[in-house]
Order: sequence, then C-alpha cells, then structure tokens
Amino acid sequence: MQRVAVLTSGGDAPGMNAAIRAVVRTALGIGAEVFGVYRGYEGLLAGDIRPLSSTDVGGIIGRGGTILRSARSEEFRQSEGRAIGASHLRKQGIEKLIVIGGDGSLMGGLLLSKEQGIHVVGIPGSIDNDIPCSDLSIGFDTAINTALEVVDKLRDTAYSHERVFVVEVMGRKNGFIALEVGLAGGAEAILIPEIPYSLQEVVDQLKAGHSRGKRSSIIVLAEGAGKAEDVQRYLIEATGYEVRYLVLGHMQRGGSPTSVDRVLATRLGAEAAKRILREENAIMVGLEGTKIVATDLVKVFETERKVDSERLLLAEVMAQ
Ligand code: F6P
Repeated sequence: MQRVAVLTSGGDAPGMNAAIRAVVRTALGIGAEVFGVYRGYEGLLAGDIRPLSSTDVGGIIGRGGTILRSARSEEFRQSEGRAIGASHLRKQGIEKLIVIGGDGSLMGGLLLSKEQGIHVVGIPGSIDNDIPCSDLSIGFDTAINTALEVVDKLRDTAYSHERVFVVEVMGRKNGFIALEVGLAGGAEAILIPEIPYSLQEVVDQLKAGHSRGKRSSIIVLAEGAGKAEDVQRYLIEATGYEVRYLVLGHMQRGGSPTSVDRVLATRLGAEAAKRILREENAIMVGLEGTKIVATDLVKVFETERKVDSERLLLAEVMAQ
C-alpha cells in the first residue's frame, strides 16, 4: 500500500486545514495510507509523524491556522538536516511528501526530492501571495479581507476626525497584500518595497487632496517598505495634519478562511494527492486562471512573480 505524508511549513495561512483535509480524504479514497508530519520540517527532523484518518480532518475546513502546526526550520536548510528528515520518513515506509507552505518551504521540498529521492509535491500556502506559477496562494484572500475590514473601519474614524491613517500590512519582501488591500480599500497612497517611493510625494498628494477639500486619507504600507510609525512622524512634521497609524501584524494570518480560500485549498489538496500517488515528483500545483495546473518546482524558482504595476496606477487614479 502506498504511503504519503503531508506537512505545513512557514507562516500559517487560513485554508491550510482545508488543504490538509483534501489531501487526506483524496489519498484515502485512492487507497493510500496518509500520515501527518507535525510542526513542519522541525517535526520531520524529530520524526513527529503520525497516521491521519478521515475523522482526524473532520470539522476543520472552516478553521484558520493548521492542525498539523507549523514552524520555520533553520536546520532543514542544511543538507544534513534534510537527510535526517528523509530517514524518518523512510523508517515509516513513506516515500512521498506533500508540502503546504511558502517559497522557503517549497524550496526545502525541492531539495529533499533532489538530494534524498523523496517524491515531493508542493501546494502554495502563504498569505503573501508571492509564489510564482500560481495566481493565488492559500490564505491570501482571507488575509486581504481581514485587512480590508480594518481599513474600512479606520476610514470611519479618519472621516469623522479628519485624520490620516497609516496602515501597515504584512509583506516583508513584497507588496502583494498592500496593493490588493489598498486598491480595494480606496487608499490614497500605497507604499510597497518593489517600487521606490518618496514620502515628500505622499505629502504633496495629501496637500493637493486637502486643497480639493479632502480631509481624510488612508495610506497602506507594506511592512517591507518601511515602518508605519516613521511614516506617521514624517507626515506630521511635513503637514501638521493629525496622523495615526496601525500595524495589523499577525491578525492577518488568523481567522476562518473565506470561501475562495476553502475552495482553492480543497482543489489544490486533491490535485496534489492525485498527482503524488501517480508517481509525479518535484512539482507544485497551482491556480492558473480558473484551472488547477502543475508546474515543475525548478521552473517555479526560475520564475519571478512581479507586482502588477497597472493596479498601482489604477489606485493612484482612483485616489484623485
Ligand atoms: O510569510 C508570511 C508572513 O506573514 C510575512 O508576510 C511576514 O513578514 C512574516 O510571515 C512574519 O513571520 P513570523 O510569523 O515568523 O513573524
């Protein structure tokens, strides 16, 4: 009987549970045995691998986080660590592993496959939506809706008190979340790490808006593009307006997944299980348009995922 394991790794993302559920139930349906690796690659290094049944994944489709828990593992970045991980899988007769996580986690999976011959299929799971070769990664839709709810609420106070709010959203290396939240929330400025910006230009925009009668503004800042507190200080000094800031932080990673994330995770989880049990290896399943596709993991890492600068321009026009 074929044995397949599944793990979640890196930052948790809403919808990971729905993906685990889909992997387990699809693989069981095909007649395989399924195992969960707890605490991501950290748990793999410790041999924390346990069987998963259909009832183990009951009632989790709407739960945020990951029932398998997650971690960021330094040791697994080393080939010695990956050899230990592979030996723990083999000890239980497992040659196949489904990895749900972000780019670092998928890279770990690719190296495990190349060096140790374990079959690996990746599923993009990250609120950052920065994984190439998939239009969406699990958790992004929920995260932006969580952030958007906050932006909408802040707008009430911004309007009532004639204030500027700086909202810092997640995105250490990129601005996918900031751009989406900013566009959907009607932000007056969106500051992201990929595109150089000048705070003086933001000041000019705010002043121009003020002269047109605009008394409140929202600025969405990606965490990788600066600190909300610094932006607040600069704006207060340069404009004299009342400026407040809010750092959303990890609240964006939690909560019940939206239907978009649940359905995406279910489709990706099912596809990953089917493909790995057909002996496919070193691929990532992803969404392209409305279709679920598979891409070679090597190609995923050769591809760059760029922010859509047209969206940024659109947001600028809308902010007039
Ligand atoms: O990769 C997802 C992410 O949420 C990033 O946007 C953020 O910068 C980072 O994780 C935070 O990681 P940690 O939970 O380890 O602080």
